[in-house]
Amino acid sequence: MITAHYLTKTFETRVPKEGRFAAFRSLFHSEYKEKRAVDDVSFQIDEGEIVGYIGPNGAGKSTTIKMLSGILVPTEGEVVINGLVPHKQRKQHALQIGVVFGQKTSLWWDVPVIESFKLLRDMYKVPEDRYQRNIELFSDILGLQEFIDKPVRQLSLGQRMRADLAAALLHEPKLLFLDEPTIGLDVVTKENLQQFIKEINSLHKVTVLVTTHDMHDLEKLCSRVIIINDGRLVYDGSLENIRHQYGRERILVAEFERDVPDVELPWARLVYREKRKQGYAFDRFETTAADVLAALSATGYPIIDISIDEPDIEDIIRHIYRGGYHGEVSA
Ligand SMILES: Nc1ncnc2c1ncn2[C@@H]1O[C@H](COP(=O)(O)OP(=O)(O)O)[C@@H](O)[C@H]1O
Ligand SMILES: [Mg+2]
Repeated sequence: MITAHYLTKTFETRVPKEGRFAAFRSLFHSEYKEKRAVDDVSFQIDEGEIVGYIGPNGAGKSTTIKMLSGILVPTEGEVVINGLVPHKQRKQHALQIGVVFGQKTSLWWDVPVIESFKLLRDMYKVPEDRYQRNIELFSDILGLQEFIDKPVRQLSLGQRMRADLAAALLHEPKLLFLDEPTIGLDVVTKENLQQFIKEINSLHKVTVLVTTHDMHDLEKLCSRVIIINDGRLVYDGSLENIRHQYGRERILVAEFERDVPDVELPWARLVYREKRKQGYAFDRFETTAADVLAALSATGYPIIDISIDEPDIEDIIRHIYRGGYHGEVSA
């Protein structure tokens, strides 16, 4: 359904020169620097999937979404979506996608939301009965009624995002591209949007590609994630696999009856100490919590309580961003 082959986007940026007369000289010849914003990225997404497309700031997420939407032309490689090449068949492609950029509304600023919807209805030639049905459906879940008569500039960020999401779906696209759809939203609105996206996906088989910084979005929405870093694909696979393969470390925290010196253990290392609590990190592929506990008990210091901490997905993913991941890219 979506196939990206060796997708690459290079931007040329002018680099300001330094030194005396730099500004003067740059009038005549500028230096250009190439930035490979998206670098040789390949993936395939099937109908009905919800895929999280994540990476640190500047990784190339928005650039990818823009190429998939037909807004930007790839420098190298190609995208084919349901047989269409987005930037070449823009009009036809526009009918099959809905796009929401969290940072920027695609609605008319000074026009009441409902008028924007009607304009889109006419642009996309949505039959009146379908239009009415969709407005009703979206109103239910997104609570459009509370602001549908207001111009977009008067809306709160959360209202604006809900309006944008509804607008992107009025023409019943098969694919939905969301670029940071929950950025800056409060928890309740976030959950609302997540639920809506899930429903659209399960009821209408809409394929969703979503970029986000929010790990809760990911955990709620996506079983599959693609991670890019500095333009390159570094992981493509399940969230479950990330947790399983990279979330190997556990921390056993023991609370002692009285102050005790630090203990050296063969398969675990002390990573945390607070009053009478000590935390020992261990690799659960190499040893078990029971063994660490046994070794700790064998020291003879009386333990009154234990707990085991697991790293959360956010920690693990941050680790992958920092280059802690060197395995092969799995599917
Ligand atoms: N129009 C542009 N001209 C020059 N550089 C750009 C342009 N758009 C994006 N970039 C650069 O490409 C890289 C990727 O940007 P972007 O795709 O917006 O990242 P993300 O959405 O992951 O934060 C960044 O280094 C950014 O500065
Ligand atoms: Mg972006």
